[in-house]
Amino acid sequence: MMYVPRHSEEVMSGEKLKGFIDSSIAAIRETVGSSSAIVGVSGGVDSTVAAVLVHKAIGRQLHPIMVDNGLLREGEVEFVATSFRNLGIEMKLTDARARFLKGLAGVYDPEAKRKFIGQEFISVFEEEASKIKDAGFLVQGTIYSDVVESGTGKGDGKLVKSHHNVGGLPETMNLELLEPLRDLYKDEVRAIGEALGLPKELVHRHPFPGPGLAVRVLGEVTVPKLEVLRKAQVVLDREIAKAGWYDRLWQCFCILPDIRTVGVRQGARTYGYLIGLRAVLSSDAMEATWAPIPHDLLDTIALKIIEEVPQVNRVVYDITSKPPATIEWE
Ligand code: XMP
Repeated sequence: MMYVPRHSEEVMSGEKLKGFIDSSIAAIRETVGSSSAIVGVSGGVDSTVAAVLVHKAIGRQLHPIMVDNGLLREGEVEFVATSFRNLGIEMKLTDARARFLKGLAGVYDPEAKRKFIGQEFISVFEEEASKIKDAGFLVQGTIYSDVVESGTGKGDGKLVKSHHNVGGLPETMNLELLEPLRDLYKDEVRAIGEALGLPKELVHRHPFPGPGLAVRVLGEVTVPKLEVLRKAQVVLDREIAKAGWYDRLWQCFCILPDIRTVGVRQGARTYGYLIGLRAVLSSDAMEATWAPIPHDLLDTIALKIIEEVPQVNRVVYDITSKPPATIEWE
């Protein structure tokens, strides 16, 4: 039986939070029984909190797996491996870069990318699960906003984007879904993470979408484009942290549109990539406001990106809120 907690209108805290954790642990234990569960961990708050919660319930019956889909940020694999090691939870790393990138070749449509990535994830998990004795459950860090925006929530949620951890599961899938955070908002997930003793830098990390950099490299995803985007993101993260803006933002990230623009460097013409900067304020991602980053900080970020990522010759800042835009560009 799938475990789905009730949906709360108010952010939980104190006793309610403890009650949620205790009842989730009991329900997960009962649901899983003597079977095993696997969980895909990405370093994100949601999947980490889901994994730690389920680990508290069933210990070594949980098998966390990190899929390197080739769409992760610089240093992400190392970050996740270290985090789980520090939590005393064993994690397996699966290198699936080649198959994801091959499957994305020639795919331009955002929904087609999302659907492919979601399905490929499930396939990788099924393969991994088949190697684990008695694996009957797949734990996912799906949260309420994912459900609503995929058009599967209560009320009149219409499809905005197919969030990869909510998308339809193949008919043949023989794992049952376990989504202990499905009814929670992000700040509730963070509060649960803190109550479970997760380190602050993990709990307060900005969200990162399941389809990863594939929805930030607009159009076809290629290795050279991913490399440009990764390098630009490193610069943005560093400058935002240095300026003390990280914790004020819901998210900040770079986007690589499928266009090139003309520029000039040391007197010579360039025909380079454009980097879009996105930084938003939000409390649950359902609505977001573009962040009023000071002009001098934007100036530094743009100069540093162009200096450190030579393929880029132009940087623009996205000043649209959600709605009418979404946070990610695809
Ligand atoms: P949008 O772009 O829909 O994003 O305004 C809302 C929030 O969700 C994140 N996001 C995702 N998270 N799987 C996820 O787990 C996904 O497929 C996905 N797509 C977007 C996005 O980064 C933002 O925080």
